[in-house]
Amino acid sequence: MTSAPISGHTQLAAVIGHPVRHSLSPAIHNAGFASCGLDWVYLAFDVAPGGAPGALDAMRSLGIVGLSVTMPHKDAVAAAVDETTPAAANLGAVNCVINRDGHLTGDNTDGDGFIAGLEADLALDVAGMSCVIVGAGGAARAVIDALVRNGAASVGVVNRTPDKAETAASLAGGRGRVAGPDEIGTADLVVNATSVGMAGTAGEGVTPFDTSLLRSGQVVVDLVYEPSVTPLMAAAQRAGCRVGGGLAMLVGQAAVAFTAWTGVDAPVSDMTAAAKKVLAARGGH
Ligand code: ATR
Repeated sequence: MTSAPISGHTQLAAVIGHPVRHSLSPAIHNAGFASCGLDWVYLAFDVAPGGAPGALDAMRSLGIVGLSVTMPHKDAVAAAVDETTPAAANLGAVNCVINRDGHLTGDNTDGDGFIAGLEADLALDVAGMSCVIVGAGGAARAVIDALVRNGAASVGVVNRTPDKAETAASLAGGRGRVAGPDEIGTADLVVNATSVGMAGTAGEGVTPFDTSLLRSGQVVVDLVYEPSVTPLMAAAQRAGCRVGGGLAMLVGQAAVAFTAWTGVDAPVSDMTAAAKKVLAARGGH
């Protein structure tokens, strides 16, 4: 794996967000470019709230080929690009912009990244599965949309705030509904899409629901990736569940974006290794 020297030909991709300095995306994408011998670099830009339209103008004028978009800009970018993909339009949120000769297409690769992560980590196909999603924010909505597109039989949404659960469940049409925590024990697939359990937050060390509900044979995926084994994942392992972590979705969504920008298959294992290295250097892994 060698990086090309930066030259007058080097292409630029970047992430905008606020805050953005702890983003793993530069490590993931630069490892991908180096692994494929691509003359590209990827930087992080801290763009204040309200600054997304200006960042898109800069993308056009500077010829930035690819942009990742994270909080708080996903909705504003969806409203400001020239075109959105069906996934981005359904969600009203863009996490990836592709610049083709100044025409900006906004995509949302979180859902496809989630599905790719399940395949890579657990060799899992969600077709026909009954699913329960805990949480109803942006990550939950992307997962719900992708589960339905990939043939899940049903999607129950469990959330602290019922109104948001209703809105998220409606993304699944006739297969979606608001669910109670008791349904966690009967689903084939349970996904934590809340931030509960994330290192460095008030929820660190906490599980997002009563894990005594879990049963052997269920698949449990925690979208939290820091720590690498969350309290939920540890409890699900003890209960005999098959367990996946959040890094697979993080790298999965980046891999879909990488291919959209470069036209090259993403080197997922090298990208994953780069993310793990950064997380390990932060401690706790
Ligand atoms: P993201 O875009 O990463 O999904 P988000 O939009 O802020 O983040 O959504 C976070 C989700 O985690 C929400 O469903 C939130 O519940 P509310 O809709 O009730 O706000 C959920 N969440 C966050 N902290 C929580 C906690 N301590 N207990 C239960 N749910 C929590």
